[in-house]
Amino acid sequence: MNSYLSALEERKKQQLLRTLPLPPEGIDFYSNDYLGLAKSQELRLAIESIQKSQVMNNGATGSRLLSGNSEYSEKVEKLVADFHHTESALIYSSGYTANLGLISCLATRDVTLFCDELLHASLIDGVRLGQSKRVRFKHNSIIDLKKKLKNQSGDKLVIVESIYSMDGDSCPLEEMASVCAQNNALLIVDEAHSIALRGKIGEGMVQALGLVDKVLARIVTYGKGPGIHGAAVVGPQWLKDYQINFSRSMIFSTAPGPHHFCAIEAMYKLLPEIQQEREKLQATIDYFVKKRKETSLNWLDSNSQIQSLIVPGNQAVVELGSKLIENGINALPIRKPSVAEGTERIRFCLHAYNTNEEIDQLFKILSDEG
Ligand SMILES: Cc1ncc(COP(=O)(O)O)c(C=O)c1O
Repeated sequence: MNSYLSALEERKKQQLLRTLPLPPEGIDFYSNDYLGLAKSQELRLAIESIQKSQVMNNGATGSRLLSGNSEYSEKVEKLVADFHHTESALIYSSGYTANLGLISCLATRDVTLFCDELLHASLIDGVRLGQSKRVRFKHNSIIDLKKKLKNQSGDKLVIVESIYSMDGDSCPLEEMASVCAQNNALLIVDEAHSIALRGKIGEGMVQALGLVDKVLARIVTYGKGPGIHGAAVVGPQWLKDYQINFSRSMIFSTAPGPHHFCAIEAMYKLLPEIQQEREKLQATIDYFVKKRKETSLNWLDSNSQIQSLIVPGNQAVVELGSKLIENGINALPIRKPSVAEGTERIRFCLHAYNTNEEIDQLFKILSDEG
């Protein structure tokens, strides 16, 4: 048996084997389609209408630096930058490639990166590809970050997420921004789980808190709340120029096609009009939080659309996941290495389209758990 097959066997033995599931029938407590935009007829029609209004190639035909750029891509990026009250936007095919490209090119030998210990894998992979020294600080701990920044000289870059993908808690962004300012550190915020959801028009947390000028770059991803796919890095013009020169995942990859830019344009036009969906989601979150507080189970403290029930141990969490699926609830177990050992969990994603009856049904099943 070769070493690759042995690695697969080992994963099977430890109940860690990943497979590609087809969506089971059942109540959606697992997708990232928080606002229902992935299924929205209104968004589909808006995308089609933009596509019909211009003659477009099927594909980009090359990297943005070769044949893959167009006036239309630049027009959409201008629209994205304006929406986010900043100078520039650079669109990538996904949040993963945006983080990989951005972080790895900023991670030069001259810089020290300060990373929250719960950063998403896409940010960590960007750090790994770079050449900077990395310092991890305790999750959301301003005290720990302060201490570590003080001990370090030279250029400093702090990387956080506005809402954390596995725990669902929010970064104390205002305090984070002021600690960075006091210590001459630049701040990067991944808004994957707040774009489309937070702020009056879904602009994300940085903007909603009035921190645009205190943050070097935001990564806004489009596969979750926005219901499509792709991402943009938004920030000052020099940062876009720098990425065009040094971001390898952008330079050495075919550009997103024209249809992708149409979807992004249509989605941004829709965001200000779906306040009602954001309010519905908030009502769903409030009801869920009230219900979970009535249980004696081990819930992480989150007020966002991501709610996690800690069930330590792979076997226990997989068993509970199977039980939920058998009972028509789609909520998948998250095991190590996606989360640290001992913090295995069922991660519930809430949506504007979840009803209180669905939440009641879930808690009825969970009531047998302890
Ligand atoms: C915090 C965070 N950043 C980035 C990504 C990657 O985005 P995408 O799915 O668009 O590649 C994810 C996706 O899970 C995420 O949770």
